[in-house]
This record gives sequence, C-alpha cells and structure tokens, in this order.
Amino acid sequence: MSQHPQTESILAGLTLEQKASLLSGATFWETEGIEDAGVPSIIVSDGPHGVRRQSTGGDHLGLLDGEPATCFPPAVGLGSSWDPELVERVGEALGREAQAKRVSVLLGPGINIKRDPRCGRNFEYLSEDPLHAGVLGSAFVRGVQSQGVGTSLKHYAANNQETDRLRVSAEIDTRTLRELYLPAFRRVVTETQPWTVMCSYNKINGTFASEHNWLLNTVLRDEWGFEGVVVSDWGAVRDRVPSLAAGLDLEMPTTVGRTDAEVVAAVKDGSLDIAVVDTAARRLIDLALSGQQGLWENAELDVDGQHALAREIAGRSIVLLRNEDAILPLTPGAGPVAVIGEFARTPRYQGAGSSQIVPTRLDNALDAIREISGEDVPFAAGFTLDGVADAALADEAVRVAASAETVLYFAGLPSSAESEGFDRDDIELPADQVALLERLIEANPRIVVVLSNGAVVRVSDWNERVPALVEGWLLGQAGGGAIADVLYGAVNPSGRLTESIPERLQDVPAFTSFPGEQGSVRYAEGLYVGYRHYDTREAAVSYPFGFGLSYTSFSYDHTAVRVDEDTVHVSVQVTNTGKRDGREVVQVYTGLPGAEVSRPVHELRAFASVEVPAGETREVALSFPISELAYFAPVADAWSVEGGTYVVEIAASSRDIRASLEIQIEGDPSPIPLSINSTLGEWLAHPIGAPILNAALAEVLASTPAVGAMLNDPHMRKMAEQMPMTQAVSFGAVTTEQVQALVAAVEQASA
Ligand code: BGC
Repeated sequence: MSQHPQTESILAGLTLEQKASLLSGATFWETEGIEDAGVPSIIVSDGPHGVRRQSTGGDHLGLLDGEPATCFPPAVGLGSSWDPELVERVGEALGREAQAKRVSVLLGPGINIKRDPRCGRNFEYLSEDPLHAGVLGSAFVRGVQSQGVGTSLKHYAANNQETDRLRVSAEIDTRTLRELYLPAFRRVVTETQPWTVMCSYNKINGTFASEHNWLLNTVLRDEWGFEGVVVSDWGAVRDRVPSLAAGLDLEMPTTVGRTDAEVVAAVKDGSLDIAVVDTAARRLIDLALSGQQGLWENAELDVDGQHALAREIAGRSIVLLRNEDAILPLTPGAGPVAVIGEFARTPRYQGAGSSQIVPTRLDNALDAIREISGEDVPFAAGFTLDGVADAALADEAVRVAASAETVLYFAGLPSSAESEGFDRDDIELPADQVALLERLIEANPRIVVVLSNGAVVRVSDWNERVPALVEGWLLGQAGGGAIADVLYGAVNPSGRLTESIPERLQDVPAFTSFPGEQGSVRYAEGLYVGYRHYDTREAAVSYPFGFGLSYTSFSYDHTAVRVDEDTVHVSVQVTNTGKRDGREVVQVYTGLPGAEVSRPVHELRAFASVEVPAGETREVALSFPISELAYFAPVADAWSVEGGTYVVEIAASSRDIRASLEIQIEGDPSPIPLSINSTLGEWLAHPIGAPILNAALAEVLASTPAVGAMLNDPHMRKMAEQMPMTQAVSFGAVTTEQVQALVAAVEQASA
C-alpha cells in the first residue's frame, strides 16, 4: 500500500530499468530520482547526533569533513538523561537543522545494545537495556520526523561490536535475540514507523543481515508492520539480487548502475519476481515523495539557539557518580581551584567515524569554569592526548594541584582509543593519566575527577580515594559549558547510568566470548548482559545500571501497584527532601522468583524522569502492558507470559530498590503443548493436563499398586517426573493408546 496518492501511477509508468535504478543510490548521499516521472532524488545524511551533510565528496568513515553543524551529545550522553521528552526535543532540533541543510533522512538513531563495554561504537548507542534504548529511540524518531524529516533506525540487527563487523556472524540463540537484541527495534518500529531501517553489515546466525529474509521480511514487516524502506548500511550488500528478494529495498551508496543491471537481468531470466522489484520501487517512490514534501522553503539554521540547546542537553547527560561530603557543587570564590588535564582545554566531545560532526563552535570546560567562577583558575595539562607519559607536564600539574584547595582533574579516553571500526582491548584509562592521578591524590586529596569517554572505563583502583567523580561521557560541542554548570551547581545533575560500570574487565559477562574469532562471535552469556548478569549473580560492580547522584535527595512514599485487565500500574510519591530543585529517575523492575525458564532476577519495565522542586512532592504514575512480562519460548516460536507472583520493584537504580511489591499474574497456558514426549512432571504441572492425567492415574494406581508406591515416594517421584510418557509406555505402565487418548483429551479441553 503506498503512502502517496500519485505513487501507483508513477510506478505504472516506469520501465523495469527505471524501477531497478531506484533501488540503489545515485551518489554517496543521494537517492536516484527520475525527474520526468515525478520521482525526486533526496539527500540522506549521518547522523545521529548532528547533521553531517557532505556537499562535496563523501565518506562513511569520518575521513572528510561535513558542513559545520550543531554537535549534540552522542547517544552515550543523551541516553543518560533517561528522558524521552528531552530526547524528542533533540530530535526536533536535528530535524530543523536537517531542513536547513536540505537533508531528507537523518541516518540515526543507533539503538544496538551495549553488549560489552569494549565495543568501539558504544558511544553511538543508548543502553545495555532494550526497554531504555527503545523508549529513547522512539522519542528520537518522533522528534526528527515531526519536522518532516525521516530517520534511519540502525543497525538492524545484532551489530554489537566493531571487530570484523563487515563479516562476523553473531551467533545468538532465539530467546536472546527476541528478548534482548530485537525489542528496541520492535518498539521503535511499532510506535513510530521510522521512514527507513538500516540493516547492519554483520551476519546473524550465518546469514548477512542484508540477505536475511526472516529478519527483514518475516519479523520487521510481517510481525511488526514496518512500512518504510530498508536501506543497507553503506556497502553492506554482498549479493544484490538475493538481498532484494530478502527485503532490502535500497542499496547505498551508489554502485553506478552495476547492481541495477543485475536486478534487471534477474527479472528477465526469471530468477527474480518482478513483484519484488515493484514492491521495493513503490517504497522508494513513497520515500522520495515524503522527502520532497517534507522540505521547507527557507529553513534556516539558528546557530545560537541550537548551541544553547546543546548545552542544556549536555547538562542533562552528565552522571554524578560520587560526591563525598558534598564537595560539589563548588561555590565561586570559596577557595582556590586548579584545573588539571588536557581534556579541560581540548575537549573530547564526540566519537570517531561516520557520526563525526564539524561543530559550529566548541566550548571547553576550562574557559567555562573561568567564566562561571569569575576567577583566573590555574591550569596544567598534566598529560598529552597521545598517551606517551610526559614527566615535565606531570610534575607541573602536581605543583599546580598542591597549591589549590580543590583540584578538578579532567581524565578520559583519547579519540584514538574508541571509534567506529574497531573495539577496545580493555577498559583502562591511559596509564599516564592514572599515574598522574595517583600523584595528584598524594599532593592534594581534594580531587574531583571528571571523565570524558564514550563507554565505561575502570575506576575501581582509585574511585574510593577521590571525593568526587563526574562521568562526563561525550557531551557534544557545548559540553564544556555544561560541565562547568554542573561543577558550580547551575545545573543539578540528573543523569543515570545506562551501562553498569564493572570492577574489572574480567567481570564483564561477554569477557570470554567478545569479540569472537574466525568470523564468528557466540553470544554465550545469552540474556545475561549488563545488570541482568551482575544483579542475577549478585556480583559486585563499581556503579550499577540506573545509578546517578543529585545535589538533592529524594524519598519514595506511598508506593502502590495494581493490575487491571492487561496493564500493570505503578505509582509512587517522590519527595525532594533537600534544598535544591532536582530531577529523579524513577525505575520499575520486575522479576519472577522460581520462574519455569531461566530469567534475570529483574528487568526494567518502565521509567520516568521527574522534576521535583525542593521540598515538594510529585505523584509519579508508570505503567506497562502485562505482555511485557512475557518470555520467548523458541520451542513454540511464541511469546508466553508465565503465571505466578511477580515482584515489582520501584527503584532509584538496579541496586537501590525503594519498594518491592507483588502482583499475581494469571499467565498464558503453557506454550509447549503436551504430547506423548512430554514428561510426567510436565503433565503434572500443566493446568489442563494435570487433572486429566490424575484422573487416569487413579485407575492405574488401583490396578498397579507398584506404580502408586513409586509415586508416593518423594525420591522415586522426582525420578519418575523426569520420565517422558514414551518411557512409561516402554516400561509397560501404560499403553500408547492410553497416552494418545490423554493427549486428545487435553487438546479437546484446551480448544
Ligand atoms: C555506518 C553507518 C553510517 C554509514 C554512512 C557506515 O559505515 O555503519 O552508521 O550511517 O556508514 O556513513
């Protein structure tokens, strides 16, 4: 079904060659247009945290510059806000900027799960949790698309590492794929209909995403109802004809006609159905018309307004991890401050690769601190960004630090450490920066560490010896000002971690399987990624998922949960018990103790970022459908809500549970049908099968006392419960006909 009234008549007037030409790019960043037929060419552009329009030349690796654009905080920062409204505003701002640059589709958001902190592109992804990534991903798409500009939800799917990303096969069991790696995509697609979805480079269980019929047609379109265009990641198509048949509509960038000819030839020799070409061409015509219709005349870039917004967003992205004795916020003039660390002067504000923006301007924290404090704060670089220890710089930094009352130490990862295209080998800060920190602690223990990094770094060695730790992630072009805002209390920090900070790399769930070898990576940890792993195993972390401090404090009262027909409703009164206005991120987790299948101890089900003025109380109401409690049962290829008593936790982080309540859920019938191969235990646990079997057993027990004795003995019974009915037949306890009669009775009762 086409979205524009003229699409069908345009399509009907095209030759096979013209249709095929629409299915690959005209240039690096433009789709093919057929002017005479009324199909415009549109411009697409990276993305995601700025509009990287390249009007001359093109590359997808960040080698060539784009036109100057507002660099908003990348996803690692934005995600830490846990605030869909804020993310939607960023989306709107990006949409406006795309308009000003005549860009019709922004290539983002990136919503892949942060499976392992070493992934070089984690800075471009939102979360280790699919609900969080999905909710914020939806907000981003809503924001951009509200401006008449499309998005490209990427990278679909299971692109969780950069090592071998063009080829590696992500080996993922069905449950894990369904419960962890696909739900964020499902949410964004079903809630917002992004104009395009970008398939990833990698294979999933042996098949390239670009040729994955199940992924692109069965799941994305048939199950989720995706109506837009599937576009390849740049150069992700291996074999054009099978990829088209598998549901990949648009190959990017241009192949200068080479693969269009392959499509034409395949139709002519009968190996490709013309209907497939028509369907994809129809989608491309729709996309082009949407793009053209969405463009505003005279849209202009408000550089100052966008920069101010970028600063506000950056302030909301910062996570305060530690603040002993309320050393922060600083009061201007209260005591001499020294700024140490090259990052204060040369900010690391975005990641490297295709998302790299040439900013319209760039703030640094040092200038902003001097401005906000009104003092000529002394500065020492302390280290260089190339990681080579520099004794003279370090000595000077120690001297400067010793004469101050408070030291602000800006440490972090240089851009060479993390980028699209490769992964990190470890999660360490550069050794020279840690060595300098040790010396600074000796010289002046009143240290505030401010980090700049696109994914977690290990802090466990020194974290408890510094009074304050500010996780500044990558904050975009206005991040320097935002850091000063937080340090001096103009902004009360409200960011929360979207990735657990492990004590050691060895504790990371994928430690032994990331990034795989010989073209394949096995997701051996299954569902147990991030807090799902640490919390289930009660393993120590430096800082848990969902954690972040504020300059005020919050109490949670009158917590309640109720279930109506198909929804779980949670409510809580949050009171700001401190003296500053602030924001709290309320999180709801659920767990099912004693679940039939292996499940994480708890999983995030809802969250809200709420502003609460000092001394005031806000009623927070959250809800989620009961269907979210489902697990995926591969044997039945279906979702199933297990009945039972669920724990509903109202929490300030995954490790700070403020109230633990219970709900009774009736649940779905078992997704696994009873059969002759089901065990006695499965029969006895089945709500419909058990009474039928028990009735039948009564007769057997009457005639065969030995069986009765066996079932009455607890140990023997345990053993018997493991026995498939077929075994009972072979032992002669029952006949095949009797079991078949039972199966038929259950089928009849379930119908
Ligand atoms: C990246 C995409 C990007 C594309 C175009 C690829 O290398 O993986 O995220 O949108 O290039 O630059």
